[in-house]
Parts: sequence; structure tokens; C-alpha cells
Amino acid sequence: MATIQFQLNGVAASVDTDPDQALLDVLRGRLGITSPHFGCGAGECGACYVMVGDRAMASCDMPMWSVATKDVVTVEGLGAVEHPHPLQRAFISEQAMQCGYCVSGILISAAALLRRNPSPTEADVRTALDRNLCRCGSHNRMVRAVLRAASEMAMS
Ligand code: FES
Repeated sequence: MATIQFQLNGVAASVDTDPDQALLDVLRGRLGITSPHFGCGAGECGACYVMVGDRAMASCDMPMWSVATKDVVTVEGLGAVEHPHPLQRAFISEQAMQCGYCVSGILISAAALLRRNPSPTEADVRTALDRNLCRCGSHNRMVRAVLRAASEMAMS
């Protein structure tokens, strides 16, 4: 056991845990953060992505020891029902979700992209979302939503 301290959605978090435990398990099982989903469990599908710094990363195979002192953001930290993030508004406007299982990871990939590059091209968006699998085939609407959000954020 070890005490791992990190920032979670802008708030200090401290967890006593096996340092090899996956961040996804701690988020969902211990901290009540349910937006990252378990999909493949092998870093291949993107359903569990969280933002670490300005990068979207798989939390299913991220050991807790590697999170120490890091800044972790989940969808809960992007926006809320009362104050949605522009990406969340754009996903609704573009009807970019079907079953919704992948959407948290995709929002995180998109948010990380916009953090690094506030004015992405369509090609930039497609590259950023390339590692996120969506079995419903909503990718084109998601790309439009990310571009819409970027445009809205540029005007605000
Ligand atoms: Fe982590 Fe698929 S569940 S990448």
C-alpha cells in the first residue's frame, strides 16, 4: 500500500492504494468518478481516457504510482449540467452521440487537443480522435462537434 497524491479535476486527491492498481479502478471504485468507462482494458479503445496535463491517456492501464503529483482531468472536470463545456454543448447540438459509451473518452481526447491547439483543422481533429473507437459510427458528427466547439471557444 502507498498513499498517492494527485490533482483530480482541480482538487487535491489522496488515495491509499496498491501503487500498481489502475487509475480507472480507483476513479470508478473509490472516488465516484464514473465518466471513464472500461472497454478493452488494454489501452486500445479510448473509453477510459482521462487527461493528464494536455494529453489524453488510457486510465485502464495507468498504474497509480505513475499518477503521483500529476494533474488528472475527467469529464466531471470539464463541465456540468448547469455549466457545460463548449464541447459538451457542441456534441448535443450536432447530435454526436448514439449509445454514449465512448463519448467520455472522446470528449477527453477533444479537450486535450483544444488545450494544445485551439484552432485545429479537420485533419487535426481526425488525428486526435483516431485512437478512440466508436462502434456506432458517429465519428463524422463528432468531428463536426469538435470543430464547432473550437469555433465557439475562439469567439468567446
Ligand atoms: Fe482503456 Fe480501452 S478500456 S483503452
